[in-house]
Amino acid sequence: MRIGMMTGGGDAPGLNGVIEGAARSLLNSGAEVVGILDGFQGVFEERSIIITQKDLVGLHAQAGTFLGTTNRYGIDGREQEFIKKIRALKLDGLIAAGGDGTFRGLEPFKSEIPLIGVPTTIDNALSGTEITFGFDTACSVIAEAVDALRATANAHRRAIIVEAMGRTAGWIALGGGMASYADGIMIPEQPFDPGKLYEFIKSKMSTQRGFVFVVSEGAHAKGQGPQVARLVKDAAEAIRFGGIAAVLADEIEKNTGVESRHVVLGHLQRSRAPTTTDRFLTLAMGTEAARLALAGQWGMATVYREGKVIAAPVTDLMGPPRLISPDHRWLKMAKAVGIFI
Ligand code: F6P
Repeated sequence: MRIGMMTGGGDAPGLNGVIEGAARSLLNSGAEVVGILDGFQGVFEERSIIITQKDLVGLHAQAGTFLGTTNRYGIDGREQEFIKKIRALKLDGLIAAGGDGTFRGLEPFKSEIPLIGVPTTIDNALSGTEITFGFDTACSVIAEAVDALRATANAHRRAIIVEAMGRTAGWIALGGGMASYADGIMIPEQPFDPGKLYEFIKSKMSTQRGFVFVVSEGAHAKGQGPQVARLVKDAAEAIRFGGIAAVLADEIEKNTGVESRHVVLGHLQRSRAPTTTDRFLTLAMGTEAARLALAGQWGMATVYREGKVIAAPVTDLMGPPRLISPDHRWLKMAKAVGIFI
């Protein structure tokens, strides 16, 4: 068999683990593995490599993706060229790791390109799977930052607002903020009441020196929309959020008198060696993707459900983002320990 592999969309810690896990399994079964470089861009520009065992040793521990990726390169309007170039690769099937944009892009070609999908995003927001790899690592980055920033916040009696990624989903802010007992966590799913936030801070000023809050980049006050940082032309998701932490720091200082600063963790959340939890998940997803390909079970994806990596139709990953529901147990836990949400 000749199996292609590609990574598309934003990178996530663990992508290299998927590549190593899947490619090692395929090579051990006698398959040939073709790596398409830089996602869809590599198809159009005819850039691919043959992956060998020596490319793979130790890859799982590195951030990024050995194959390269892009989250601003679509197929729209170039379908005929795309399929011609895919055919020229003479693949029996393709394992693609990516987000909903990658799978929606490949869906129309499913009879031409037998596909296995591996859900990828640090945002943890893909439909069809309960966890995506990279999420645990991103939460660790937030938690480490909050724990570290406590010292300077306390030293200066300041409020520090940490901005987390996540687009329209607050998973990273919530997971990382809870793991570090942040004073408050603002997520897009639950627009916050600024008045209540200022009251919360004022009520604690006599017993607490500093404050550290985590705000998701898509979070916003009630009645307002998210802060837009930039528009990326040609991207499946053109709007990039960012800037809420700076706004909030100014508002907190103005309304409570507590001197405030902000920190944007940005791409540090994506560019970190994967945690052990993420490594196990990508080992499981990589080997399952290879198993599905070797068994010819095309049109399937590797998903995490009820504690296990299993196979489900790749179309399950194409639904709307999986957001935090108002009755999610994590919100109850956060409230139980006094975190402002
Ligand atoms: O979807 C993953 C993600 O990291 C989001 O959390 C973030 O908003 C976006 O990608 C950033 O995209 P870019 O790498 O294009 O700045």
